[in-house]
Amino acid sequence: MQTRWIGDRAVSAIGLGGMPMSIEGRPDERRSVAAIHAALDAGVTLIDTADAYHRDANEVGHNESLIAGALASYGGDTSGVLVATKGGHLRPGDGSWTQNGDPAYLKQACEASLKRLGVEAIGLYQFHRPDPRVPFADSVGALRELLDEGKIVRAGLSNVDPEQIRQAREILGDDLVSVQNQFSPAFRSSEPELYLCNELGLAFLPWSPFGGITRAAGLGDRFAVFAEVATAHGVSPQQVCLAWLLAKSPVVIPIPGSSRPETIRDSVAADSLELSAAELLRLDAA
Ligand SMILES: NC(=O)c1ccc[n+]([C@@H]2O[C@H](COP(=O)([O-])OP(=O)(O)OC[C@H]3O[C@@H](n4cnc5c(N)ncnc54)[C@H](OP(=O)(O)O)[C@@H]3O)[C@@H](O)[C@H]2O)c1
Repeated sequence: MQTRWIGDRAVSAIGLGGMPMSIEGRPDERRSVAAIHAALDAGVTLIDTADAYHRDANEVGHNESLIAGALASYGGDTSGVLVATKGGHLRPGDGSWTQNGDPAYLKQACEASLKRLGVEAIGLYQFHRPDPRVPFADSVGALRELLDEGKIVRAGLSNVDPEQIRQAREILGDDLVSVQNQFSPAFRSSEPELYLCNELGLAFLPWSPFGGITRAAGLGDRFAVFAEVATAHGVSPQQVCLAWLLAKSPVVIPIPGSSRPETIRDSVAADSLELSAAELLRLDAA
């Protein structure tokens, strides 16, 4: 698979999003582990997770633990795999997502993620979402301290705007390597952040590239052009979507969620799908 860059680290151009394996509606663990192993077999070297990818309040870090276990039980070499996690979101267990950007909390959350992932330093630690009750610079300051303490190797942001990206760069310098925002055929309003990442050389990780777990299967029904281009190439609309995202900029690294070997294998094949300039224009206009 082609590689792309997250700071100084080369990763597969298509990553794996871990959320469907751990939140409401998740499958049994065996299927999720099979999906992670299928991703590794297919050459995926970026796995996106978060301490908040869990269902019940008493199982914080479910997805981090699942991924750490799947890497440990994989037969092959996993030293080239970057597990990117996040802190700053919480799930009280009633289905809601709350926030805590307090620096002391973020540092404590990172310590817990370190233990669950079983590593000495987290390769990419992302601030999950700015907390309106805490000055953004204070939350980013926690990432600075974690970098200085060697607890994390690289820092990323999620759900931020261009001003916040610039502000964080002043605090983190070149240690800020990525931005993870929502971007899909249905949600394109993160274009300013994508363009800024392209300008600054930061990786841009579009989340929910198919519109999210419950809408992913219907992508081709909701966006007929994606289905038409897919039919022309004999591939799935989801593959077309990922190839369209990859073509937007060399900094884009999609992280499609998956909980089945078949879906991650299909997604990975988007790496070799070449769309014409005319097709890309049609998809842009869809
Ligand atoms: N930073 C944030 O605030 C934030 C928010 C949301 C998500 N994320 C991250 O972004 C990742 C992706 O987002 P998402 O999981 O919400 O939504 P998504 O990637 O748009 O959709 C996920 C669903 O797509 C299905 N799928 C995957 N590949 C497919 C294919 N080739 N053909 C047909 N269906 C396919 C999967 O089904 P199966 O489960 O049946 O395999 C999966 O449940 C998450 O897993 C998470 O890591 C981050």
